[in-house]
Amino acid sequence: MNTFIYPGSFDPVTNGHMDIIERASKICDKLIVAVLISHNKQPLFTMDERVDLLKRAVGHCKNVEIDCFSGLLVDYVAEKEASVIIKGLRAVSDFEYELQMALLNQKMAPDIETLFMMSNINYSFLSSSMVKELARYGGNIKGLIPECIEEDVINKFKK
Ligand code: PNS
Repeated sequence: MNTFIYPGSFDPVTNGHMDIIERASKICDKLIVAVLISHNKQPLFTMDERVDLLKRAVGHCKNVEIDCFSGLLVDYVAEKEASVIIKGLRAVSDFEYELQMALLNQKMAPDIETLFMMSNINYSFLSSSMVKELARYGGNIKGLIPECIEEDVINKFKK
């Protein structure tokens, strides 16, 4: 069983994430999308909400599971008996940070590989932060996040 882990904050999941999830799930037996329980960041959506949004968005992907984790990513990957961390790269600006994390993870756990997937060009500008910024000020978020979660994101700013 070849298990990949796709970690992130997913606050909320975007179509850029969905593109990586759909493509990565085709090259492994099981893909676990792992939502970070972060103690530093103040997310817009709670952990339960982010997991729920993801579960609805990946309903059509048969070998994809949604989970959450805290602590070190490499410890979580080992606990799940996974072999690969999958990451999306949008632009050169992502590279330095991602390289640093990949090398640190490699140092801590040499048997775990980080695989980078280039983002779909249509989503290379897209981030959860941009979606939140647009939604906060009433901008159009259609096509940027899965249709089934659009209402949730819009409604979050109405409260
Ligand atoms: O979507 P994000 O916020 O860019 O995801 C970052 C994430 C979750 C991949 C990263 O913060 C992470 O792996 N955190 C777990 C803590 C850890 O293992 N840190 C050491 C490697 S930098």
